[in-house]
Amino acid sequence: MADKPTLTTTAGAAVPDNQNSITAGPRGGVMIQDYQLIEKLAHQNRERIPERVVHAKGWGAFGTLKITGDISKYTKAKCLQPGAETPMLARFSTVAGELGAADAERDVRGFALKFYTEDGNWDLVGNNTPVFFVRDPYKFPDFIHTQKRHPRTNLRSPKAMWDFWSLSPESLHQVTILMSDRGIPVDPTFMNGYGSHTYSLWNDAGERFWVKFHFKTEQGHKHYTNDEAETLIGKSRETYQEALFDKVETGNYPRWKVQVQIMPESDTGKTPYNPFDLTKVWPHGDYPPIDIGVMELNRNADNYFAEIEQAAFSPSNIVPGISHSPDKMLQARIFSYADAHRYRLGTHYEALPVNAPKCPVHHYHKDGQMNFFGQKTGATDAYYEPNSMGGAVEDKSAMEPPLAIEGAMARYNHREGNDDFSQPRALFELFDDGQKSRLFDNVAAAMGGVPGEIIERQLALFKQVHPDYEAGVRAALKEAHGYEANAISTPGTPDAAE
Ligand code: NDP
Ligand code: HEM
Repeated sequence: MADKPTLTTTAGAAVPDNQNSITAGPRGGVMIQDYQLIEKLAHQNRERIPERVVHAKGWGAFGTLKITGDISKYTKAKCLQPGAETPMLARFSTVAGELGAADAERDVRGFALKFYTEDGNWDLVGNNTPVFFVRDPYKFPDFIHTQKRHPRTNLRSPKAMWDFWSLSPESLHQVTILMSDRGIPVDPTFMNGYGSHTYSLWNDAGERFWVKFHFKTEQGHKHYTNDEAETLIGKSRETYQEALFDKVETGNYPRWKVQVQIMPESDTGKTPYNPFDLTKVWPHGDYPPIDIGVMELNRNADNYFAEIEQAAFSPSNIVPGISHSPDKMLQARIFSYADAHRYRLGTHYEALPVNAPKCPVHHYHKDGQMNFFGQKTGATDAYYEPNSMGGAVEDKSAMEPPLAIEGAMARYNHREGNDDFSQPRALFELFDDGQKSRLFDNVAAAMGGVPGEIIERQLALFKQVHPDYEAGVRAALKEAHGYEANAISTPGTPDAAE
């Protein structure tokens, strides 16, 4: 047929028949020389790549970041200058569920952004919450193990989750957000995004400012209750994919107001909380949010696998004018993500079109599996540096100002001298009676099958946040599971055998 392209093998040869294998006689067997058949089966066997170890289920779209405010006195970053428009990619996700998990499950949502700036890619890999469950990266793998499947039952384990949380008071803030109304957004457009960590901005004068990034939904906050989500999941497991794809496809473009909170470097030791502690926010009263622009999503990916599944976000991707902070969690993430990408996608994951910067790229990395780009050194004979062949050289203007650090090297107890209760209390006190009552019910529902000893340990933590928190959850536990103080366990999901 003249109007259709010719089907070929991957080597470009025309395929004469795509319906019938080559066989010895009409009844077979199949000839091993049927390399077209073998190519097809072999490719199918290699269609799956490892799913992300966390945040496996996700939904994404492309868009634009437009800067309307003026924070040029804080940063030289070109993408943050007044009037700048930067193409970007967003990928939202749940944390614990696997690639096929239902979208409307109670979980923190990932809010990962890649800005293709003229100075390289800037990735802000945040969540829909401003804080996190742990403050020391040493505890991250342990925490994630409690969210994933039990090694023996292969079931998720409420016992493990509450055991870990009740032994980790720093998790109270995030647990309260997770169990609040915001724990199940209706779809990704109805939630805020937060860079969560403290990052830094620096200007041409060599001054540094600490910064928090916020993305406030312009669609408003909309959430499901547990009951609504359960009914919904019975009908469709893909509600986020459906909603986001449809909104972008039909021109109903979702938008977020972009804000920053700025802290002068000289304030570092002056706040009552450690400004680099990921379990804490900076209260708005202390550091008011400044509007700097709008983020809009307005283009769907043409191929989900190539552009969303293979997207590789990393907190290590910063650009001149934006940098990191001493936050211990952030420091570990700077290592972890690129390492994950090399394993999940391969050595040259940054050469994939969705990850490739939209500016010139020059480096001296050599060879490696699937290197289809040759060398990127900027000169033919330059394959080491320094060289006299005209290869790429460093640019001192990209050097961030020096940061003074102090203290003896040791393993400092991150639970000592930390107030884990005031900020969850401030949040609890923001909730009206209806929000509080749903919080109590959601916690109780999540505690099905958990031993009484663990429940009591968690209730003691809630009590330190607010006596009403403990009393409310205790009453909800009685209502939901007939739980009495120090009972052996609550009925519910069968948990791991000892
Ligand atoms: P503010 O009254 O100025 O701000 C309260 C914040 O709480 C708003 O940003 C609001 O988000 C957010 N919020 C409301 N309901 C929830 C919820 N269920 N889960 C998460 N966030 C929610 O108070 P402060 O700045 O003094 O902070 C008080 C508490 O508010 C903090 O301890 C923290 O728990 C929470 N919070 C603070 C943030 C900050 O950066 N200061 C950011 C997010 C939460 P929105 O504006 O979208 O309605
Ligand atoms: C994904 C590690 C904390 C947000 C991932 C991945 C790893 C990882 C290995 C999978 C990456 C991939 O395969 O593409 C860690 C470690 C942490 C940590 C070691 C702490 C020490 C956090 C925090 C946040 C966060 C605090 C948010 C504030 C995300 C998001 C994704 C992700 C949004 C999905 C990115 C995407 O859409 O591809 N994390 N993480 N993580 N993480 Fe973390």
